[in-house]
Amino acid sequence: MTRPLRLGMVGGGEGAYIGNIHRLAARLDGHWQIVAGAFDADPERGRAFALSQGIDPARAYGTWQELVEAEGAREDRVDAVAICTPNFTHYPIAKGLIEAGFDVICEKPLTATLEDAVALEALARDSGRFVGVTYTYSGYPMVHEARVRIAQGKLGAVRTVQVEYPLEWMSKPIEQDGNAQAAWRTDPVRNGRGGSIGDIGTHAYHLAGFVTGLTLESLTADLATFVPGRALDDNAHVMMRYQGGARGLLWSSQVAIGNSNGVRLRVFGDKGALQWFQEQPNELIWTPLDGRVQIIKRGADDLSEDAKARSRTPPGHPEGYLEAFANLYAGFAEAIRARTEGRQPGIVGQNLPLAKDGLKGVAFVEAVVDSHQAENQPWIKPIEV
Ligand code: NAI
Repeated sequence: MTRPLRLGMVGGGEGAYIGNIHRLAARLDGHWQIVAGAFDADPERGRAFALSQGIDPARAYGTWQELVEAEGAREDRVDAVAICTPNFTHYPIAKGLIEAGFDVICEKPLTATLEDAVALEALARDSGRFVGVTYTYSGYPMVHEARVRIAQGKLGAVRTVQVEYPLEWMSKPIEQDGNAQAAWRTDPVRNGRGGSIGDIGTHAYHLAGFVTGLTLESLTADLATFVPGRALDDNAHVMMRYQGGARGLLWSSQVAIGNSNGVRLRVFGDKGALQWFQEQPNELIWTPLDGRVQIIKRGADDLSEDAKARSRTPPGHPEGYLEAFANLYAGFAEAIRARTEGRQPGIVGQNLPLAKDGLKGVAFVEAVVDSHQAENQPWIKPIEV
């Protein structure tokens, strides 16, 4: 299949946060053309936005149900639909699309409830439809480089994983001042049970598991809501035990003043350590035991094929967030084409975040909130000194 794939979108209309990133990422490599959409909760606004994007008026839909029906009847129907709406709508929209035979690219967290996530993952599996989940940070070439190096045993046995996702943007009660994004993110019904942990903790959790290959065994969590009147956590600390004995510590915060998207991952093994900071995404910091700190740069000749296949510019010409997101779209296109052509996907179509990873994220949030709310949480006071 040599033609670009046809992409439809649900959500991501005028004033939305992530929708335009999807459009930029989908277009970057020419694998996708955006040809249809139901872009807004308000049908008229959605249609108007579609026209502003150059979408054929016949494919500018008012609702996702209209999109499913009309696209389903076309010979040149969309190959996949990206869901860029608030969390609670992911499940009904994805279900409707999958049942109508469409492949799906869904935003994280996969759903607002564990029940929906379990059902959606089962539906994806049973239907054979492709369901990719946009865990952005797994698109970076140097994150893939870290994953490969750990899988090759360069770090030895992983001992501890520190991962954090601090943001400052909800340090004030902006949801009470009409901020559209904060309004649904602080509503347990539209967002789900986990505030910061659902919104950004899921990114951090996926990143840590993706890079290390470790499987979570159990966790204990402490959530806090610092902004008065807020219904969900805006700060989370989670201690994790991975199968095999490694330990992890995850911090997500929406009240971390001074931080924009300060995702940081540090992995310590018994032979060395790797660090990756998303604000310096072209670099991986590697320290062998008894050796010196080294900076491994994107574009270097000795990088893995996994990293090289996800790079576009020569070393020193920085790549970042949009390219990482585009790597997910390139991977989704490759996975869909490989399935259609009955072959194994090439390297960019491998190691993609899929429905199962989405379900793991929602299950993580559920466990974190359950842990925090558990009555027997052990908090031990030291003796008074
Ligand atoms: P937003 O509130 O800025 O935009 C949501 C959009 O969906 C709006 O255009 C709204 O009109 C539309 N919408 C809502 N219900 C709809 C429906 N039934 N049919 C059609 N359109 C509908 O939300 P934001 O911040 O863009 O988040 C959207 C999703 O993306 C969330 O699940 C969020 O967690 C995720 N996200 C992921 C990021 C990443 O790094 N991968 C970053 C930011 C958000």
